[in-house]
Amino acid sequence: MMLKLAPSILAADFKNLGKQVMETVEAGAHYVHLDVMDGLFVPSISFGMPVISSLRSCTDLVFDVHMMVEKPERYIGDFRKAGADLICVHAEACTHLDRTINQIKETGAKAGVALNPATPISVLEHILSEVDMVLIMSVNPGFGGQKYIPYATEKVRALRNMCRERGLETDIQMDGGVTCGNVRELIEAGANIFVAGSAVFNGDVTANTKAFLEIFKEYEG
Ligand code: DX5
Ligand code: ZN
Repeated sequence: MMLKLAPSILAADFKNLGKQVMETVEAGAHYVHLDVMDGLFVPSISFGMPVISSLRSCTDLVFDVHMMVEKPERYIGDFRKAGADLICVHAEACTHLDRTINQIKETGAKAGVALNPATPISVLEHILSEVDMVLIMSVNPGFGGQKYIPYATEKVRALRNMCRERGLETDIQMDGGVTCGNVRELIEAGANIFVAGSAVFNGDVTANTKAFLEIFKEYEG
């Protein structure tokens, strides 16, 4: 599977947001990861539709919207209109996950489901074949710059096996504490899309982006 980098703009310099997004795009990033926080599902509040629709004019790259929002079904249409290509909702935030996944697909966006660190992959039993991507949180969502929770690696390994057993090529995205130091272990466990906030935006954005892409090349071909 193709390995992809999804820089999370949460760690960007917001007064230069467009410029910083363009820097990751030009350096070869594959997605723009947009962390929407509602102050209820997670303690913090980040940004919403206006920021996303304003960034939409910067690039055609996939806009990957990670909704850390209670009852996300209330806003799926709005995020799609703002420019989301992929909408990922937390299983823990949806009373009717199947309905919400269908609602995302009906907008024409790709559908993802995210799991908090302590949520077992068994919740995916019946919905796995219906989603384009599973996001495995490797920190407790709410803030950038946290430390990777080691048991997330085993979770990814088990999920990749679950996909293989069912003949599915579902994307597995890792989010939280991903760095050039641990990404090889995560690739080997079976993840293929990597969110990185502080590891991309702290310091030289172009060099940091390219450092991930160089590691991906070790696994290509
Ligand atoms: C955490 C967010 C992440 C976060 C990642 O709640 O979902 O996308 O921005 O940041 P780092 O890579 O710094 O852990
Ligand atoms: Zn995220």
